[in-house]
Amino acid sequence: MPKAETKINLKNLLVLPGLIDVHVHLRDEGKAYKEDFYSGTAAAAAGGVTTVLDMPNNNPITMSTETLRNRMKVAEKKVLVNVGFYSEFPKNMKETKGIVGEGAVAFKLFMAEQVGGLNIDDDYALLEAFKIVSRLKVPVAVHAEDKAALERTEDDLKRSNRNDVEAFLKAHSESAEVKAVKHLLNITKQTGTHVHFCHISTENGLKTIIDGKNLGLPVTCETTPHHLFLSADDLRRIGTRALTTPPVREKHHIVALWDGVKNGWIDILASDHAPHTLGEKKAKLVWDVKVGIPGLETTLSLLLTEVKRGRLPMADVVRLMSEKPAKIFKLKGRGCLKEGNNADFVVVDLNRKSRIDAAKFHSKAKYSPFDGWIIEGKPVKTFVNGQLIMDGGEIVAKAGSGEIIRGE
Ligand code: DOR
Ligand code: ZN
Ligand code: ZN
Repeated sequence: MPKAETKINLKNLLVLPGLIDVHVHLRDEGKAYKEDFYSGTAAAAAGGVTTVLDMPNNNPITMSTETLRNRMKVAEKKVLVNVGFYSEFPKNMKETKGIVGEGAVAFKLFMAEQVGGLNIDDDYALLEAFKIVSRLKVPVAVHAEDKAALERTEDDLKRSNRNDVEAFLKAHSESAEVKAVKHLLNITKQTGTHVHFCHISTENGLKTIIDGKNLGLPVTCETTPHHLFLSADDLRRIGTRALTTPPVREKHHIVALWDGVKNGWIDILASDHAPHTLGEKKAKLVWDVKVGIPGLETTLSLLLTEVKRGRLPMADVVRLMSEKPAKIFKLKGRGCLKEGNNADFVVVDLNRKSRIDAAKFHSKAKYSPFDGWIIEGKPVKTFVNGQLIMDGGEIVAKAGSGEIIRGE
């Protein structure tokens, strides 16, 4: 080893591989009023996250070589952690090759509504799209809620003037998730494309995925801290600030998801950091509320609290939030501490008891369904590519210190 220039005393602290959060909406560009590359990656660094994968539902939508290239250019000067990018499917599927060539690490497909260029109501087009992507060897991450099922119940409810949280829960049903999962399993059976299911939230959604895994299909899945720690009762109590899709669920789903985490059926935990303004989080009709909650600054602490209380092995946290994300999204040189890898790590203090205070978030979204929760365990230093980025909760590096990750 070369002689060290600096020595850092980490007595009584633990060093973990930096977290890789594969589901983050960094916004910026036309949605910078909600979050931008600096504020979002500052939130990541504060939360011990050294790499994020950015979702494409932006303004403009990331769905072409041009929008992706431009997004990377805007991000480059601002990011504090490493950022990789998803793209939505383009209108012309011939462009997918160029998008992957430009460096997209994966495609994202919203099945709840059409976001990208692909008509999700057209089964034939979906199948053709997946065939093309299977040759490019990148995963397709799917928001699995069936559009037709959602619309049908939502329209019925709206007609009978049901506009509250209860109606929202009814529309975003377990069966809407299961239907979309089955649809995608069917597609992957025919095309061999790696499908990664985002934020699985229900018992039967997970069961259906396990059936697919048992058939040997190339599928993986994630769930989020809010689906693990919050129930529909919490949503009823907190109100629309806690509204997100898929919504948090009744308690038996939570039990099933924790089982999935412990048995290894759930591959990844991801925050689904989806910041909005406080004004957008309330509306007269529940249907008009912007869905999504910020999660980058609470995820690790919530998990460490479970570790501290003896309910979750630390090795599971590392597997779910570093090792598997790197493996599934082929992030070379990341995800574990070993010689030759990038020096992405987070130093945590398991003996630090504190209270979540959303007003102090680095994210522009200063609200959280976990506001006020007592946590035991905190990230205290975050290193990205060997550079100290966050120290004691403060950002200590310059904008642009993070790296833009391009897929191979
Ligand atoms: O809750 C959500 N928020 N679900 C989505 O599918 C989109 C996301 C967002 O971008 O705000
Ligand atoms: Zn989603
Ligand atoms: Zn999302």
